[in-house]
Amino acid sequence: MQFTVAIDGPAAAGKGTISRALAAHFGFAHLDTGLLYRAVGRRTLDGVPAVIAASTLRISDLSRTDLRTQEVAQAASEVAANPQVRAALVAFQKDFARREGGAVLDGRDIGTVICPEAEAKLFVTASAEIRAHRRWLELTQAGHDADEAQVLADVKARDARDAGRADAPMKQAPDAILLDTSDMSIDAALETALAHVRDRKERHA
Ligand code: CDP
Ligand code: CDP
Repeated sequence: MQFTVAIDGPAAAGKGTISRALAAHFGFAHLDTGLLYRAVGRRTLDGVPAVIAASTLRISDLSRTDLRTQEVAQAASEVAANPQVRAALVAFQKDFARREGGAVLDGRDIGTVICPEAEAKLFVTASAEIRAHRRWLELTQAGHDADEAQVLADVKARDARDAGRADAPMKQAPDAILLDTSDMSIDAALETALAHVRDRKERHA
């Protein structure tokens, strides 16, 4: 059985939290596609040219422990605007999306470019202030020294770059459900996402 759930949206909207829960619930595989761009961005900070980093990326690069910093997020968003970088990462994502047994992918262009045929699509968002607060809490709890105003500025800069680029910009697919989690608990957001995917699965069966 092939069944793809595409989850897109801006930074710290809750894509990963929702994707992991959906994957666990339905027994689907999960790919956080942001990690691909973060791993490429991380290597550019080490001096490797972006296109080389993307075309030689290995699965083991995705488990590096230093991919969650704000510095790497910005570097990821810069390399992500390069069409050659994106092209080098497409085949892996498309194969993952159509694997047997079902898959959840989260990112910016899953429902629009990587898997326009996805059986279920969600565009998850929240206000920039709320997303920055969530990301700041995460960073602080992980022991990083983060300034909330700086995190907000970084999130806004990244959103603008991701939505404004010419190649595969972040945008809601016409057939995606919009899930604004600004005033929603994680449980409420999960329940809405679960209900949507369950509905699509029943129609698909
Ligand atoms: O994957 P993405 O960057 O979109 O977001 P995430 O890593 O799933 O969520 C970012 C942070 O927001 C996490 O610490 C979540 O626990 C939190 N969150 C929340 O407080 N309320 C939600 N409705 C969703 C996520
Ligand atoms: O976790 P968060 O939402 O903050 O970011 P991420 O999903 O890890 O993505 C990091 C960066 O990678 C984004 O700001 C985008 O520039 C880029 N990205 C992309 O262009 N396309 C994707 N499918 C996923 C991420």
